[in-house]
Amino acid sequence: SQHKTRQKILDDFRLSHAQLLEVKSRMRIEMEKGLKRETRNSAAVKMLPTYVRSTPDGTEKGDFLALDLGGTNFRVLLVRVRSGMRRGVEMHNKIYSIPQEVMQGTGEELFDHIVHCIADFLEYMGMKGVSLPLGFTFSFPCQQNNLDEGILLKWTKGFNATGCEGKNVVALLKEAIHRIEDFDLDVVAVVNDTVGTMMTCGYDHPRCEVGLIVGTGSNACYMEEMKNVELVSGEEGQMCVNMEWGAFGDNCCLDDIRTEFDRSVDEFSLNPGKQIYEKMISGMYLGEIVRNILIDFTKRGLLFRGRISERLKTKGIFETKFLSQIESDRLALLQVRSILQHLGLKSTCDDSIIVKEVCTAVARRAAQLCGAGIAAVVDKIRENRDLDLLKVTVGVDGTLYKLHPHFSAVMQETVKELAPNCEVTFVQSEDGSGKGAALITAVACRIREAGQ
Ligand code: BG6
Ligand code: GLC
Repeated sequence: SQHKTRQKILDDFRLSHAQLLEVKSRMRIEMEKGLKRETRNSAAVKMLPTYVRSTPDGTEKGDFLALDLGGTNFRVLLVRVRSGMRRGVEMHNKIYSIPQEVMQGTGEELFDHIVHCIADFLEYMGMKGVSLPLGFTFSFPCQQNNLDEGILLKWTKGFNATGCEGKNVVALLKEAIHRIEDFDLDVVAVVNDTVGTMMTCGYDHPRCEVGLIVGTGSNACYMEEMKNVELVSGEEGQMCVNMEWGAFGDNCCLDDIRTEFDRSVDEFSLNPGKQIYEKMISGMYLGEIVRNILIDFTKRGLLFRGRISERLKTKGIFETKFLSQIESDRLALLQVRSILQHLGLKSTCDDSIIVKEVCTAVARRAAQLCGAGIAAVVDKIRENRDLDLLKVTVGVDGTLYKLHPHFSAVMQETVKELAPNCEVTFVQSEDGSGKGAALITAVACRIREAGQ
């Protein structure tokens, strides 16, 4: 009966086909709200125009700088893009850490830190004084009225620096440069990581018209018809839309499938009530859901001999890496126990079986929810084009997607079930979004020069 009690709790994480179809159709409703002029102001899913109007065609060229901020690593990159016979991209990059106090300090501290890193990189590359066009991958919701500006709407994930929301992040960057280092930056493009990823993958896969991130956070972008992007004038052609789908559910439309554990993770997060869908899917939160379930099981005497250790009470102990390791099929249960031991949790063999089961239920639901979202996106593209069958490629990046042994398979299976009229190929990005940001910058520079 202990087993039964546990299963009953985990059953709330097992979504039926009907529930997933419902998630897909609600996502579609939210997409329409975000795109339409009359409803977009109150829409949870913002559907932000990106001013990126095409995927790569191989003619992009030049040398560019790129910044990549908002995922696990902050990177500064030099990207060389060649066209023609020697078509290809060569990248040099350096990873810098952003301490948590800087992520959650003042905006000035954050942008000063970024500028110090850029200065260090230029020095390191022997490029001080060289001014190259720059593509800024900034992985947060930004309202763009142009390619080269991004007004931060709201911090998400682990960031919370003061004085940035409502400001143009390019201006914040430039102000920081003038405060400390005296060099100039030619910021040509502000790019969401989903868009960077779509472009990175699009360089090698021509049908790549969707970008997906399943990492610290989760989000997607796709090529929408201009006539449907009501916020931007013009009816011709297409524009990439940054969905900011992490905020799906912020209007309570997912409340019927959320569990008490989701609510508690949300309550103790940096942004309660926000990014509800993201909190059910992405790496920053899944471990916390697992930890909350384990605490509940322990309180009920169903785990760890009923004893809640200090460790288990510690926020953030279950990183993405851990979830992925524990579910690896190559691991014997003894190894699961040693991972738990490593985390400071003493377990019996039965305990380790239960922990693994919890991880599986939470990650499987995440992958299915994500699949339901993708199903909504590809079906919309298919309907836009009036096709009976759509063939499309989705470019994907993010640590959870890349490390987890089952996430991608479960997600793909879900997409197949929920969008049977779409043939969807998923390609994993190997080069990050900095490459894509450079490609976008290349096109913008070409247009700028042609106009002069
Ligand atoms: C990287 C991108 O490859 O993937 C980042 O370059 C992005 O910009 C990241 O944010 C997402 O993954 P994670 O797991 O680092 O959040
Ligand atoms: C968060 C951000 C979004 C980003 C995603 C993945 O949801 O708001 O802009 O794309 O994380 O990094």
